[in-house]
Amino acid sequence: MLHLTIDGVPHTAQPGDTLLHVLLAARRDIPHLCHDQRVRPAGGCRMCVVEVEGEPRPVSSCTTIVAEGMAVRTATPAIESLRRTNLSLLAARYPAAAVEAEPEQPFHRLLARYGVTAGGAPWQERYADDSHPYLGVAMDRCISCNRCVRICDELQGQFVWQVWQRGERTHVGSALGGSLADSGCVSCGACADTCPTGAIFDRRDAPAAATVTQWTRSTCVYCGVGCQMDV
Ligand code: FES
Repeated sequence: MLHLTIDGVPHTAQPGDTLLHVLLAARRDIPHLCHDQRVRPAGGCRMCVVEVEGEPRPVSSCTTIVAEGMAVRTATPAIESLRRTNLSLLAARYPAAAVEAEPEQPFHRLLARYGVTAGGAPWQERYADDSHPYLGVAMDRCISCNRCVRICDELQGQFVWQVWQRGERTHVGSALGGSLADSGCVSCGACADTCPTGAIFDRRDAPAAATVTQWTRSTCVYCGVGCQMDV
């Protein structure tokens, strides 16, 4: 058993626990975006930062293992300011309409909590994919938390998603490079379940505006009369 203090209050933890795990168990409302307890932590979003006495700078609590005698401060003005700044960077090119349409998404709730407005220059080049019968993709909402990639690989063992390119051009896409329908996806839905923004979503749950419907002129494949119906 290890001993630490959280905002001055004594707590205990098990060896090997991450700091975020202990803080959440202690009912501290620590914001976290790239964390999903079912997969390995990535430490990418920096929303879970806290101050640990003796550390020269804030640490991401999801990647920090608890040590004996730690003194942790979770919500100082400096920490809250840092979280707001990190959130602002993620929101800078995020579609405001998505926030309005689905305020309950975890990322959107955090924007509201920290008073951060989404918008600015959108990711014009980011793709949407409605090829899959159950899962929709709207990558203009992707904040590169990579939870979809990690849960598909580590939990489901399917390796459908991959991070492509670098820097500003970094994006998540099918590992095979084509549409989701051609990716070998087994429709488990784990990626949609973990996504904190709705960039990957269950099409059956999506608001009508996010469901792409397209009328097309077609001949029934099993008939051959050639009516050319609108379907
Ligand atoms: Fe810890 Fe994202 S939740 S860095």
